[in-house]
Amino acid sequence: MEHKHFHSAVVYQIYPRSFCDSNGDGIGDIPGIISKLDYLKSLGVGIIWLSPVYKTPNADFGYDVADYYSINPEYGTMADMDRLVDEAKRKGIRIVMDLVVNHTSDEHEWFQSSIHPESPYRGFYYWRKGRKGNTEPPNNWTSNFGGSAWTYVPEADAWYLHVFGKKQPDLDWHNPKVLEEVENILRFWLDRGIYGFRCDVINQIWKDSLKDGKKTIWVCGQEHYLMKEGNHTILHQMYQDVFSKYDCMTVGETSYVDFKNARRFTNKELDMVFQFDTISSDRFLVPIFKTRFKPRKFKKTIFNWQRELDWNANFLENHDQPRSIARFGDTKKYYQESAKELATLLLTLKGTPFLYQGEELGMLDYPMFTPKDYQDPVNHYVYGLLRHYHFSEKRSLKLVHNENRDNARTPMQWNATKNAGFSTSEKTWLPVNPNYEKINAETEENDDTSILNYYKKLIALRKENPALLFGDFEPLKTKGSIMAYYRGYEGEMVFVLLNLTKKVQSLPRKISTMIGDVLLSNYPHAGLTYKKRLRPYEALIVKVK
Ligand code: GLC
Ligand code: CA
Repeated sequence: MEHKHFHSAVVYQIYPRSFCDSNGDGIGDIPGIISKLDYLKSLGVGIIWLSPVYKTPNADFGYDVADYYSINPEYGTMADMDRLVDEAKRKGIRIVMDLVVNHTSDEHEWFQSSIHPESPYRGFYYWRKGRKGNTEPPNNWTSNFGGSAWTYVPEADAWYLHVFGKKQPDLDWHNPKVLEEVENILRFWLDRGIYGFRCDVINQIWKDSLKDGKKTIWVCGQEHYLMKEGNHTILHQMYQDVFSKYDCMTVGETSYVDFKNARRFTNKELDMVFQFDTISSDRFLVPIFKTRFKPRKFKKTIFNWQRELDWNANFLENHDQPRSIARFGDTKKYYQESAKELATLLLTLKGTPFLYQGEELGMLDYPMFTPKDYQDPVNHYVYGLLRHYHFSEKRSLKLVHNENRDNARTPMQWNATKNAGFSTSEKTWLPVNPNYEKINAETEENDDTSILNYYKKLIALRKENPALLFGDFEPLKTKGSIMAYYRGYEGEMVFVLLNLTKKVQSLPRKISTMIGDVLLSNYPHAGLTYKKRLRPYEALIVKVK
């Protein structure tokens, strides 16, 4: 395998709105990001993935793009963006942008033009006549954000398709002009020095047919547009025309992806894909129903994906997910230990690790939002639906909390001063988590035992250790509460041992007879040689003899 920058780099996802506010308006921005590049460098980050910074009406905070060639003025200017790319590059950090092309904003000029039947952009979107004399949607599909996936526009005398929000009309990829336009966008940014793209909901862009979908309790119609043949054809074409011609990196957001499709997506289409089996392992049916953490299930998804793909995109958090410690670790007695155990896992798997801002500090979910504070539009829909089905107010709030995307979007906690040092404004766009006086970058920088310093050590260790970077992944069979695996490279063997639970776990003979030097552990004075037991959430990285 040829080694490219992304094979040895750690990716750090920035949600620009919540990272650092340079001008005191309560909203993070690009100059704010530039001011934190040294922080990211000292953490050991090699790539930044920026959630969308394009011009947008913010119906989905940038995942609704109104112009792919300009920067959201709340975040800065094109000159700021160029400066970010240059200054980062000088520090050895490359910038990856978010590519949102399943849909545009309804405020994009293509869409505005397409409302008129004779427009050259009419065929960029799915405009259809409705059923029953145009009074009902063309089919029964529902949107990921609730309600019908179709909206009627009187001026157009037709309905348009949107599998996400109303303000996110789907592009029609059957139209070759769409690919042409998107390729122009890709080249524009790559030529400006961007290192690549994280491709938003990229496995859903090809609608195979507009027939009615099977009835489901969640999103109806998906079987007509998830990972269709045309999806692969389009991505392969993009690869041929653009990606293969640049030294770049691409990663696809591919919910519901299976092994077979993942292998195709990562063969001359994209470089990597995100699988969601691991982070769905504590969910039942739909994301609002959280189940008890089942270590065995969690581990199985990871081992399966490590076995099935040569190179994974590993992550435990992003801007759409609740924070990970409450899900897979412990926020109380073993907060520190479990946060470090999860870090150890993320940084020692084979593949590119993706860290989400604040994860390196052990940031946690917001205690509980009330509907008047909700920023994510999905919350209002889910809350309303639950109340409609007679869930109590308390239960509804709790269920929304389980998947509330605002949880991971609260401002980054930089220090113990006002607004956690994120902004000088009176009000920030989302409130700061009240735990910021304890959990923040500055405090943790000054504490050698902090989660932040553990991440730094881990990332540095990973960088200098070819076995951790490129080594084969070999799982060791143990009971579900323990995770054990080898990373082997050119005769070097590194062994990773994790207790996924808060209980002491006794080790099987094949481990308790092992001899080795501990390279890093989340417990002081940890050794492996003749080790009989693992303490709560204990994690060890060992050089075996
Ligand atoms: C992806 C993004 C999410 C967005 C959705 C629609 O899932 O990660 O934030 O709402 O796509 O673009
Ligand atoms: Ca600002």
